[in-house]
Amino acid sequence: MRILVTGATGTVGRHVVDQLLTAGVTVRALTRNPETAALPPTVEVVRGDLDSPTSEMFEGIDRMYLLSLGDPKAAIDRAKNAGVQRIVTLTSAVEDEAHQATEQAVEHSGLEWTHIRPGMFAANLLDWAEGIKTEGVVKEPYANARQTPVHEQDIAAVAATSLLFNGHNGQTYALTGPESLTKKEQAESIGHAVGLKVSFDELTPDEWRTTSGIPDFVADWLLDIWQQATVTPEPVLPTVEDVLGRPAKTVCQWAADHVGDFR
Ligand SMILES: NC(=O)c1ccc[n+]([C@@H]2O[C@H](COP(=O)([O-])OP(=O)(O)OC[C@H]3O[C@@H](n4cnc5c(N)ncnc54)[C@H](OP(=O)(O)O)[C@@H]3O)[C@@H](O)[C@H]2O)c1
Repeated sequence: MRILVTGATGTVGRHVVDQLLTAGVTVRALTRNPETAALPPTVEVVRGDLDSPTSEMFEGIDRMYLLSLGDPKAAIDRAKNAGVQRIVTLTSAVEDEAHQATEQAVEHSGLEWTHIRPGMFAANLLDWAEGIKTEGVVKEPYANARQTPVHEQDIAAVAATSLLFNGHNGQTYALTGPESLTKKEQAESIGHAVGLKVSFDELTPDEWRTTSGIPDFVADWLLDIWQQATVTPEPVLPTVEDVLGRPAKTVCQWAADHVGDFR
């Protein structure tokens, strides 16, 4: 079996590649920059752009992991014409028109499909790495926002399982981590895992907006999600364990996998 991984250099896709290789299947990886992709030597690396998909990208491919990028219809049509039988999408638990359009296009293709809809990636906590490394502090608003960060390896494992095995066709898997932690508790978990004392310095939304350097529309979007999570904690879902048969990884386990980023 040959599986195409789009977003193969990304946070989740890179782990999808590794897990498929471990399972012994042939992996083709799509990237716009093969020169910098740094993928394992056994991967068939193909230069390509999902904004202008070619039929060649999909030739000989049986199944595909599809990131939701732009208008996916051309890629899905070409994949289907080339003989691809199954598509596993990476979209999001947060409602988003582009992600919904991707899911619908895949469903309308008539191919087998599984949608992977993660909540907040634990990998987003890498945004705290610089502050933790240099000052031992996280400076953000909404210290009491309760979130359920999910390890990128767990997202990839659910995607890889859905690609490799039967029984996942037509399923939509909303994924979270195994615990609901305030942002302050997440900072403490990272500190515990990496052996540093990490404090949380709570900023007002405006203080954070002016110091973060994040574009206003992204800042507004994040502030809204965080504020909501102070009122309604993000749920803890059992999906990772249900699909994989083992517990989802905690923030502490995630941080232990990223010690080098925080020290
Ligand atoms: N962060 C979160 O908390 C969160 C939560 C839920 C869902 N998500 C979703 O996760 C997705 C991102 O996944 P990720 O974090 O694994 O990826 P990522 O680390 O953001 O990397 C982006 C990937 O997309 C590829 N890419 C970008 N534009 C492309 C194009 N035009 N054609 C082909 N490939 C292209 C890049 O490949 P090359 O550069 O090698 O070409 C790279 O592998 C987004 O859709 C996001 O909405 C994120």
